[in-house]
Amino acid sequence: MQMQKTRFIAGLLALMMMLALAACGKADAAEDESTAAPKPSEAAQTADETAEANGKAGGSNILIAYFTAAENSGVDAVSSASVVTVDDTAKGVSQAVAGMIAERTGGELFSIQTSVVYPADMGELIDYAAEEQDAGVLPELTTHIEDLDEYDTVFVGFPIWWYDMPQVMYSFFEEYDFAGKTIIPFTVHNGSRLSGTPATIQELEPEATVIQDGFTVSHQKAADAAEDVAAWLADLGY
Ligand SMILES: Cc1cc2nc3c(=O)[nH]c(=O)nc-3n(C[C@H](O)[C@H](O)[C@H](O)COP(=O)(O)O)c2cc1C
Repeated sequence: MQMQKTRFIAGLLALMMMLALAACGKADAAEDESTAAPKPSEAAQTADETAEANGKAGGSNILIAYFTAAENSGVDAVSSASVVTVDDTAKGVSQAVAGMIAERTGGELFSIQTSVVYPADMGELIDYAAEEQDAGVLPELTTHIEDLDEYDTVFVGFPIWWYDMPQVMYSFFEEYDFAGKTIIPFTVHNGSRLSGTPATIQELEPEATVIQDGFTVSHQKAADAAEDVAAWLADLGY
């Protein structure tokens, strides 16, 4: 595992360099703000509020829950290195794909957030996440689904961190019982694709129906994934 991690760090460092170049001057501003800046979406605490913030009406039986680094680190989404630009708006990568699913399904968006302020610096984040995973930490959640009974289908999206779900997703599945509901996973990645996470989710939620044919897209292609998302949803009957 240590060898795997070492090899992966090399790949990730290459990605970081690409991101650093793409972000140009924005990265400098991000570093300066890294510890002081408030978390950007603290105002949107519930599914309804998140939906409202995204201009969606309530009343759908579809929830789209996602976790993204940009909404859980010391910098706002605009200055974070881990963002893509969709419709002229900078978003975390998982957030961008969640938005595409919301567009097609009319589902409500829910941002999974934690009291952990993840390092804005990518290298520090990589180390922090490895330690968090090795220790099996369950980070505290600060956003909560107000009434899970309202939903029968829950899309759940997250970045692959160290070949697995970020630990905060384990907190998420610990907090809720999705028995009788359909969970549809989607991931963003830098090569690991779904990394076996739909099967992990099925183990954590044995009485839910977990669609194994989840959607996955690489960080680099996520901004242009709307058509692929639509085709995948069409295959699932949406
Ligand atoms: C801590 C950390 C660990 C990562 N581990 C992996 C990995 O194991 N496999 C992979 O393909 N990508 C990995 N990545 C890349 C992310 O999955 C990818 O950049 C993703 O698009 C980030 O999504 P976000 O902006 O929604 O947080 C990792 C990124 C971070 C920050």
